[in-house]
Amino acid sequence: MKADLSFAPLAQIETELLAVVAADTQTAKGPDATPQPTLLSADEAVRSAASAVLGSGEYKAGANETVLIHAPAGLKAKRLLIVGVGKQAKAAVLTVRNAAGTAVRYSKPRGIRELVFALPVAGNLAGAACARSAAEGAIVADFDPDTYKSDRKDVSVQSFTLAAPANSDEAALKAAFCEGVVVGESQNFTRTLVNEPGNVLTPTEFGRRASAMAKEVGLKCEVHSTEKLHELKMGAFWSVAQGSEEPPALIVARYEPDGVKDGPVLGLVGKGITFDTGGISIKPSDNMEKMKYDMAGGAAMLGAMRAIALLKPRVRVVCIVCATENMPDGKAQKPGDVQTAMSGKTIEIINTDAEGRLVLADGLTYARQLGATHLIDAATLTGAVGVALGMVNAGLFSNDDGTCEKFEAGLETSGEKFWRLPLGDEYADLIKSEIGDIKNTGGRYGGAITAAEFLHVFAEDTPWIHLDIAGTAWIEDARPYMAKGPSGYAVRSVVEWVRSYGG
Ligand code: BES
Ligand code: MN
Ligand code: ZN
Repeated sequence: MKADLSFAPLAQIETELLAVVAADTQTAKGPDATPQPTLLSADEAVRSAASAVLGSGEYKAGANETVLIHAPAGLKAKRLLIVGVGKQAKAAVLTVRNAAGTAVRYSKPRGIRELVFALPVAGNLAGAACARSAAEGAIVADFDPDTYKSDRKDVSVQSFTLAAPANSDEAALKAAFCEGVVVGESQNFTRTLVNEPGNVLTPTEFGRRASAMAKEVGLKCEVHSTEKLHELKMGAFWSVAQGSEEPPALIVARYEPDGVKDGPVLGLVGKGITFDTGGISIKPSDNMEKMKYDMAGGAAMLGAMRAIALLKPRVRVVCIVCATENMPDGKAQKPGDVQTAMSGKTIEIINTDAEGRLVLADGLTYARQLGATHLIDAATLTGAVGVALGMVNAGLFSNDDGTCEKFEAGLETSGEKFWRLPLGDEYADLIKSEIGDIKNTGGRYGGAITAAEFLHVFAEDTPWIHLDIAGTAWIEDARPYMAKGPSGYAVRSVVEWVRSYGG
């Protein structure tokens, strides 16, 4: 998708579809308070073309509610699409992202390949932050997961133009818009990986895609396999990989901006289970096909690295993805086995389906060995996080309030929801082992927390954030602004967190 900015008067723009935003400006409450749809555009010609439908009472400007006008009088556009954002007072940057996305997803099935989206003019919805959001929303909306349909028709939007008022700060809008393009495309890069079936995206192929991306955007990237795991004594990672015919991939990508020789080194660690059968503690068949997305944390970290390489913050970043299948096999590990992690800690395996924490244990240790001063990991780690928070918030854990607050400060920009859950010695006690140091499950209750406490053992006292995205990495219901399927969750928030260290 080509994405561009225009500062031309809306009425003069020749396009297949011009989308403008409307909000409900009714502030009164009660049965007589009918919605007051108001166009968020100062353009007289557009206001007049929209006035009849806005006055009709049929259209309420609810969130992502659309109405289309063909051959609008006084405009060069062939169609005028009005996209609602709901109550104006509640509208925020995120609303603009969704509105732009809704315009794109309205266009796609109708064969409209080119559209213009007018940046709203209302105070809380105008300006650079919204220009960035509109770009992100449009690009994210263009993604569909139907890659393998043999009769697939490419209905992607080829050109998206954001129209901004002539009196705006062109340079600031342009810079913000370009950022949005980078972040949106990086999120889609992640979604493409997550969407791939396990037979296509093996650990080796995962490594190839990471290398190709790294080359494209100028990151250093190395992909290692079995030998390196042994050399580094990654006994926890290997304990999962040993049960698969497919060799593992240890992906290491680095972003080292010129002239940045000191200050923090941020370590991004991702779970990359390209298929999780559960291993010998095998999962039930129902929904097992979904376990192809068990590499979403790793894919999110690579998507974030892509954005970082292009946005160029002044901070060093190292990214580690531990990719392997989790399979039952003659060589697979068994419940009761004891493994020695890279850090030297011994782990009693209770359930081979708690494999994500095993691969991450060594990923975290390796990141620290490579000099990471701050750690963040992302993983589809537990079903329990979905039980606790539903599919709405992802789980957030941290051993350091300052680091965690920096992450939370970025959520307003990223528009993603993370809810901090506790850690604590009482939880850590639940994973103590009789035979070794720790065991890999902590029983039925607080499953997302005991999993986090397991990782905490390997983060030690390095400031660390853990993101459990098991409930949010795959969305089951299509939204007006986003297809169902892989969401690309965490990419945007991790990017904001990294930028908070280096502008
Ligand atoms: N990959 C799963 C977690 C998961 C569940 C991701 C649902 C996405 C959707 C993870 O490896 C796993 O199997 N976790 C177990 C842990 C248990 C054995 C302690 C779980 O959540 O049941
Ligand atoms: Mn599992
Ligand atoms: Zn898993």
